[in-house]
Amino acid sequence: MQFSMFEKICFSFMLAAWIAWGSNLIGNALVHAEPLQVAAFKIEGGSETAEKPPADQATGGSDVSALLASADAIAGAKTFRKCKSCHTTKKGGKNRVGPNLWDVVGRAKASAAGYNFSGVLKGLGGAWTYRDLDAFLASPKGFAKGTKMSFAGLKKPRDRAAVIVFLRALSDQPKPLP
Ligand code: HEC
Repeated sequence: MQFSMFEKICFSFMLAAWIAWGSNLIGNALVHAEPLQVAAFKIEGGSETAEKPPADQATGGSDVSALLASADAIAGAKTFRKCKSCHTTKKGGKNRVGPNLWDVVGRAKASAAGYNFSGVLKGLGGAWTYRDLDAFLASPKGFAKGTKMSFAGLKKPRDRAAVIVFLRALSDQPKPLP
């Protein structure tokens, strides 16, 4: 049997199409490609990653902000009993074992008048933001290794938020909440 050139070309096209279709079918049957439920990797700055709002340098971070909004200064005053042996809270109050804490929120760290801070606290730099206060009160020694504030820390975030809200109120002009 003789085929014309045209017929041969037609056959080879059909054959190629059949192979392509057939292998696709077999391939699909063998490999079950499930669509990914979650992105395999996160893209920086993409909408997948919930970016934290930038921390306000003067007053805060984002970690404690949610708790601060609902924190209770009265509960904070009760928790502050643990601090009272070392800290006074009145305006112009004297320094005890620890410095007076009037207007401490937003104040430069280690700047209470007439108090002799440890080198560690002086070396921290910056102001007491909500975030830094939260970290310091969670673990004074963890946040400022070598601090002379011998206090184990407030383990419960809610207690810390309450105390911080209480501290914030110790001011003629309380700093805005984050
Ligand atoms: C055993 C005494 C003691 C207790 C209890 C204590 N503190 Fe202190 N606190 C200190 C001392 C001492 C310093 C100074 C630390 C340094 O210079 O290293 C200090 C420093 C601080 C500072 C930094 C003040 C500044 O002007 O930079 C804050 C804020 C603070 N304490 C809050 C608290 C709170 C809130 C509590 C209770 C949850 C508490 N402290 C419990 C002794 C104490």
